[in-house]
Amino acid sequence: MKEIEINGKKFIPYIAFEEIENAIINIANQIHDEYKDEVPVFIGVLNGVVMFMSDFLKNYPGPCEISFLKLASYEGTSSTGNVKIQMDIPISVEGRHVVILEDIVDTGNTLVELHRILKEKNVKSLKIATLLFKPDAYKKDLEVDLIGLSIPDKFVVGYGLDYDGFGRNLPDIYQIKS
Ligand code: IMP
Ligand code: MG
Repeated sequence: MKEIEINGKKFIPYIAFEEIENAIINIANQIHDEYKDEVPVFIGVLNGVVMFMSDFLKNYPGPCEISFLKLASYEGTSSTGNVKIQMDIPISVEGRHVVILEDIVDTGNTLVELHRILKEKNVKSLKIATLLFKPDAYKKDLEVDLIGLSIPDKFVVGYGLDYDGFGRNLPDIYQIKS
C-alpha cells in the first residue's frame, strides 16, 4: 500500500483489508449470537456499504434477508447535515428484526434519520451496525449498537467510502494526508 491521490487530494494507507475483515467477523458473530433463532433483515445504506455488506454476509452463518436504501448527506469532505432519502427499501419490514448496516457514522445526522425512517415502518427491533465510527465527530445521543473500528475525526476513503464519488473500489482504507 502506498500514498494515493484522488481529485487532487493525497491519502495515506490507513487500515488494511485484513484488519477490516477481522472487525467484520466480530460484528457478524455478535449479531448472530443475538439473532440465532430469528431471521433478521440486514438493511445496507448505499453506496458506501457495498463492500461491508458483501464481506459481512460471507461471514454471517445464519438465515437472513437483505435490502438496501439510499440517502445523501455528504458533499466533498464535510457533512452537510441535510439528509435526504433517495431510494427507499422495496420490501415490508413490519414486525421484523432489522439491523442497519452503515459504512461509517460521523456526525450521526444520517443515523438519526435512518432510525426515524425504520421506526416508522413498525419493525420488531432495530439495531445499528457500522464498520467505522468517529467518536470525536459524533453529536447525537442515540447509541450505536455495533462498531467495527473507532477512528479519529479525519476523512477516509476506500472499501466503499468515497471522496466525491471516487475511491470506493480501493480494497483497503486510506486517510487524508494533513
Ligand atoms: P453523518 O451523517 O455525518 O454521520 O455522515 C454519514 C455519512 O457521511 C456516511 O454514511 C458516509 O457516506 C459519509 N461520510 C462520513 N465520514 C466520511 C469519511 O471520512 N469518508 C467518506 N465518507 C464519509
Ligand atoms: Mg454512507
